[in-house]
Amino acid sequence: MFTYKDVFNDKTIKEILSKIDYNDRQRICSHGTRHAYSCIRIAKTLFDEFKINPIYLQETLIACSLHDIGNLGGKHNHAKRSFKFARIFLKDKLLKAPKKRILTAIKNHSKTRKNASIIEKVLVCSDKLDMSKTRLMPNGNSFNGMRQSAFIEEIKPIRKLDYFIVEIIVTNQFNINEWNSYYFTKKIVKAVNNLAKTLGLKPKIEYKKA
Ligand SMILES: [Fe+2]
Ligand SMILES: [Fe+2]
Repeated sequence: MFTYKDVFNDKTIKEILSKIDYNDRQRICSHGTRHAYSCIRIAKTLFDEFKINPIYLQETLIACSLHDIGNLGGKHNHAKRSFKFARIFLKDKLLKAPKKRILTAIKNHSKTRKNASIIEKVLVCSDKLDMSKTRLMPNGNSFNGMRQSAFIEEIKPIRKLDYFIVEIIVTNQFNINEWNSYYFTKKIVKAVNNLAKTLGLKPKIEYKKA
């Protein structure tokens, strides 16, 4: 079976990711190897914690691995470029239905769509939840909003009764007002709400001191 590990073992993928890693040094946050692996880790946690049907796990992890590959050409329209690249890359590697779900998820990962597949909703949520200090690149430290990530130790999705809790562990320097006025924070809330609703859970974001 073709898995996300095969994606990372591919020579072309390795080359593209290392070029994105190089470009990331001039950006505010990671879109390369580090981010792809973080999305995978978060997606695995979401599947575990919320008992999401494991038949979709591998497809989701493949989508996580490839979703930002289009960043090689910059941020603008990157989801479309990732989709086009993944369509060629996955051509003879998967059956038609899973391939279609993965490609649709990649193409739309910059949006939050109510009628999306579970794969797309987990991808979007994992992507948005990768906002702790490990995502930050040096240039992000002078970028309003983004710089607050330096004070986020960890972001943990947790199931408690019928709640979908996102626990954000922050240090004393964290400025919640600046963080809440950052446009990206609203995207996190939207992505969490969308997945929580699909799972029949109530979303809740909690900030805790490290
Ligand atoms: Fe993206
Ligand atoms: Fe991403």
